[in-house]
Amino acid sequence: MAVLVTGGMGYIGSHTVVKLLEDNKEVIIVDNLVNSKEEVLNHIETITLIRPLFIQGDIRDEKLLEKIFSHHLINSVIHFAGLKAVGESVDEPIKYYDNNIVGTLILLKVMKKYKCRKMVFSSSATVYGNNSNVPFEESYPLSTTNPYGATKHMIEDILRDVYKSDKEWSIALLRYFNPIGAHESGLIGEDPNDIPNNLLPYVAKVATGELACLSVFGDDYDTPDGTGVRDYIHVDDLASGHLKALGYIDGTTGIEAFNLGTGNGYSVLDIVRAFEKASKKTIKYKVVNRREGDIPICYANANKAKQLLNWQAYKNINQMCEDAWRFASNKSNHKE
Ligand code: NAD
Ligand code: UFG
Repeated sequence: MAVLVTGGMGYIGSHTVVKLLEDNKEVIIVDNLVNSKEEVLNHIETITLIRPLFIQGDIRDEKLLEKIFSHHLINSVIHFAGLKAVGESVDEPIKYYDNNIVGTLILLKVMKKYKCRKMVFSSSATVYGNNSNVPFEESYPLSTTNPYGATKHMIEDILRDVYKSDKEWSIALLRYFNPIGAHESGLIGEDPNDIPNNLLPYVAKVATGELACLSVFGDDYDTPDGTGVRDYIHVDDLASGHLKALGYIDGTTGIEAFNLGTGNGYSVLDIVRAFEKASKKTIKYKVVNRREGDIPICYANANKAKQLLNWQAYKNINQMCEDAWRFASNKSNHKE
């Protein structure tokens, strides 16, 4: 029985595939490489000594999914495939709704047809919207502030309705906080092609000299040093959470949301300092205006995942920055 991993060539997907292979799971990846590179497969093989089956294609291609499900015995799906850039989703909402919503609907249609009713879905802390009542708990009301977030909220609703219609389904909605870091080998990590929107890849590129200076988006928030506070979680811990969730849904039916975070908040300047320590470089930064749509503070109450999944994050902010730096400096050396 195989696990189908949509978006398995991407940042979080590739780390999860490594863990699945290390756990002797049979893995099939479907990814259209819209935001990842084929070389990731070689790196997965170098790390695990196993080359999983990779099918290049789009999850909106119903015929392709039919072919995959009819040729393989697939027990469960980990569904990472999606577009994730908040700013781009505001400029191109149709592209986001089409890719994320239509893609998920077609996937569910084919899963239903082949009676594959187990899914781990990549949701996001973005579904807590503008709430500032930290730590965020799974029971909080959901809202969204941009089309990307709306797709996550809608897909959660769609999956709740799917479960209501057929109680044989078993679904875990994993609400990630801020994944950072990279595999300890330095071979896989987050490598955006364009100028990064997210803090960590931006800081890493300042450290390698590819970018000149970090813009810190506001230092007048009601936080200890005035800069935004987030719950950064090592991608390796996050990947482990998927294996725990897979084990959980295997033994039960139902639908449950889980926060995957550390429960700790760090500010932008905490991250700058930790990255300076890890890279032994000075991170040049200047404070600019707040970024529209940012909330001051966001961190998880991760007790539910601990209780029901027996999962918790172990890696601290220094390990996150050291691993991110190893990956970034490797990449940068290869570009020279
Ligand atoms: P990523 O872009 O690195 O990985 C997503 C992968 O999906 C990519 O390899 C991309 O090529 C593929 N993909 C996209 N649309 C596809 C389609 N229609 N058909 C087939 N493949 C497709 O992103 P990531 O950081 O690994 O995120 C994985 C998931 O987790 C996404 O759904 C994202 O929204 C969600 N998430 C990410 C974060 C984060 O900060 N990284 C936070 C919360 C939630
Ligand atoms: N920041 C800067 N300068 C930058 C980039 C970010 O100061 O160049 C600050 C932001 O203002 C924020 C913090 O760094 O205070 C983190 O910002 P990120 O862009 O790295 O992450 P966000 O918390 O804004 O958003 C991320 C994902 C979303 C996801 C959300 C919750 O990008 O997709 O976490 O999971 F929805």
